[in-house]
Amino acid sequence: MKNVAVVLAAGKGSRMKSDIPKQFMELDGKPLVCHCLEVFQQSSHIDDIVVVTGEEQISYVKEEICDAFGYGKVRAVVAGGKERCHSVNNALQYISEQIPDCVYVFIHDGARPFLTEELVGRLCISVQEEGACIAAVPVKDTIKVADAEGHIQNTPARTTLWAAQTPQVFSFPLIRNAYARMIQEDRTENITDDAQVLERMEGYPVKLVEGSYGNRKITTPEDIQ
Ligand code: CTP
Ligand code: MG
Repeated sequence: MKNVAVVLAAGKGSRMKSDIPKQFMELDGKPLVCHCLEVFQQSSHIDDIVVVTGEEQISYVKEEICDAFGYGKVRAVVAGGKERCHSVNNALQYISEQIPDCVYVFIHDGARPFLTEELVGRLCISVQEEGACIAAVPVKDTIKVADAEGHIQNTPARTTLWAAQTPQVFSFPLIRNAYARMIQEDRTENITDDAQVLERMEGYPVKLVEGSYGNRKITTPEDIQ
């Protein structure tokens, strides 16, 4: 019975506007993606790691990241897809073929370097009770729903709003089947996280686990200044 972490590093980072993809930019002396790999490598809750990256970056990730930094839990570096959801699906397919004893899968953005073992531990407890849970924090700003012209349509009550983070953690067969069906039925429009796949395909009640405001995603240049 294994817990597998999927680390997503196949994005182009278009909002970062840098020469190299943001997941490989240097942060505190090493490539950004190394920070979460370090946590999963050290974690008592994680057995194997699957990294997803661009086809042309696979050998760089294997040699300069996994081998160079000694991330021995990395079982495979697999090629990503067009959108985040296609990259996740490729990893889930690899796991179903190569790691048949996977019970829970921890899906994490390689662009979130401030992951902690404590959060991994809390998600691990929750997923055993709930089958599906994600890290999230209550939003601090008031959120507006706007029309295409930029006029406000309505304002959801802030007390009901949470900002989704990763890791997002699931019973493996549950998320694997939902993803496979979503891709097969071509229902991927506007999917930006994994919980949404269960919402759309299964109507499954995914549990929110309090993450931390520090567990932010590096998206634009000011996020790493
Ligand atoms: N990701 C991925 N495969 C894709 C797109 C995104 O593995 N086809 C990963 C990114 O590498 C990142 C995470 O998903 O770790 C969250 O995506 P995001 O922050 O949107 O990263 P990018 O898509 O790279 O950035 P942008 O949207 O600005 O182009
Ligand atoms: Mg993106």
